[in-house]
Amino acid sequence: MALNYISAAEAASLIKHGYNIGLSGFTPAGTAKAVTAELAKIAEAEHAAGRPFQVGIFTGASTGDSCDGVLSRAKAIRYRAPYTTNPDFRKAVNNGEIAYNDIHLSQMAQEVRYGFMGKVDVAILEACEVTPDGKVYLTAAGGIAPTIARLADKVIIELNAAHSKAAMLLHDVYEPLDPPYRRDIPIYRPSDRIGQAYVQVDPQKIVGIVETNWPDEARSFSASDPITDKIGQNVADFLAADMKRGIIPPTFLPLQSGVGNIANAVLGALGRESSIPPFEMYTEVLQDAVVGLIREGRVKFGSTCSLTVTNNCLNGIYEDIDFFRDKLVLRPSEISNSPEIIRRLGVISINTAIEVDIYGNVNSTHIGGTKMMNGIGGSGDFTRNAYISIFTCPSVAKEGKISAIVPMVSHHDHTEHDVNIVVTEQGVADLRGKGPKERAQAIIENCAHPDYKQLLWDYLKLTDGKSQTPHCIGKALGMHAALAATGDMRNVIW
Ligand code: COA
Repeated sequence: MALNYISAAEAASLIKHGYNIGLSGFTPAGTAKAVTAELAKIAEAEHAAGRPFQVGIFTGASTGDSCDGVLSRAKAIRYRAPYTTNPDFRKAVNNGEIAYNDIHLSQMAQEVRYGFMGKVDVAILEACEVTPDGKVYLTAAGGIAPTIARLADKVIIELNAAHSKAAMLLHDVYEPLDPPYRRDIPIYRPSDRIGQAYVQVDPQKIVGIVETNWPDEARSFSASDPITDKIGQNVADFLAADMKRGIIPPTFLPLQSGVGNIANAVLGALGRESSIPPFEMYTEVLQDAVVGLIREGRVKFGSTCSLTVTNNCLNGIYEDIDFFRDKLVLRPSEISNSPEIIRRLGVISINTAIEVDIYGNVNSTHIGGTKMMNGIGGSGDFTRNAYISIFTCPSVAKEGKISAIVPMVSHHDHTEHDVNIVVTEQGVADLRGKGPKERAQAIIENCAHPDYKQLLWDYLKLTDGKSQTPHCIGKALGMHAALAATGDMRNVIW
């Protein structure tokens, strides 16, 4: 079948009000860009003419400004799942304008397949190559591309020259069957490849190829600071000690690490920790720090869903593809985040918390209990199934007005049953093998900021001190209430 080249505007015009669109990519890496940018213009014109225009968006994870940003500003999103980091999308969600379904990333593709979110009308896939028989070679991420490509009525390809065809060598595309026919996913080492290099699309469904040259809209992170460096060092010291006492095998175990400054600092510290042998990553996002560690031989292999790296770093990988092709693999998100594989491989997970309570419950998503920050992302996929689950965060936020350690979390993402280790710049609380009252001692003593330690000890004195999980229910959110009333949690009066 001949390939049909069309403009981004023509492609966007195929998308109608009420459609659900599925997008390739995971983070701004590998996400379709040109068609959604044109779609926002259509939505604005329709709204100006007094007509409704909104779509549902199904993605792998966050996207760039050319999707979530422009579409939020154009008020063109009715529903969206899963994770996003875009500030305008955040504003719209917290303004009640968008139905945001913040589900675990491993579940996204299967929930779409199960029909939980309605049909996929159009899939937009970013590719570095496409063949007339429908082989679509993805760019910098796996995401939910295989599922949306198979389910969608129509498929649009953004053929993006900003990505080298070297990306063709990085993907391992695999889609499991649904229950009751699902079998084990046969990955036994992070480096195992089990699928194909491309997404097979029915060529009859490809309604157009849009040629672009649009680099990934990667976020850059600020340089590490003394707080993130100390957190990173605390994590590295903790893992080195656990290896020394035989809890972690001498060969080490694969790591998952979240995205952001703390994650970069943790990986930097692990890279420098000479008692930890070269290790592997089984993760969902891979940042610049890991690419550097692969070059240095400190990371032996990186299995990931996306290359969430700066464009310089990405181009470096493409240029040195002969070096990287057997050290990196990009997988769909339901494989990179598969609970089955994470538990089998014994992945050590390291994610960032917004707040942690004295019993080890973690809030990763909400500010003040009600406002969405980003979403749960893959943190739940990894935390619940990890060999050791670690949460990191600075002990205070906003110049000390907010304590990350609180009596009770104001929103609950990861339960005390799943969280093993809490790390702040103050120290490490090891919650393994401890009952709730022992956990409270460890967290307050080792992780709370000195400004808040006594306040937290005083809170515990309000409880009966004996129950399984002692709380004074009327005061458990007292620090949050003090913040709301006075702008500073330190003003709490118990
Ligand atoms: N109350 C209010 N604000 C808080 C806060 C709290 N308890 N803790 C942090 N913040 C604010 C910070 O001050 C900062 O605000 P700013 O943007 O105005 O400077 C913002 O939240 C982000 O915090 P920061 O310390 O810069 O951390 P981060 O960029 O690493 O993000 C998360 C932290 C938790 C928001 C982020 O890691 C996330 O979205 N996690 C959930 C998804 C996930 O874990 N995915 C896993 C694999 S990628």
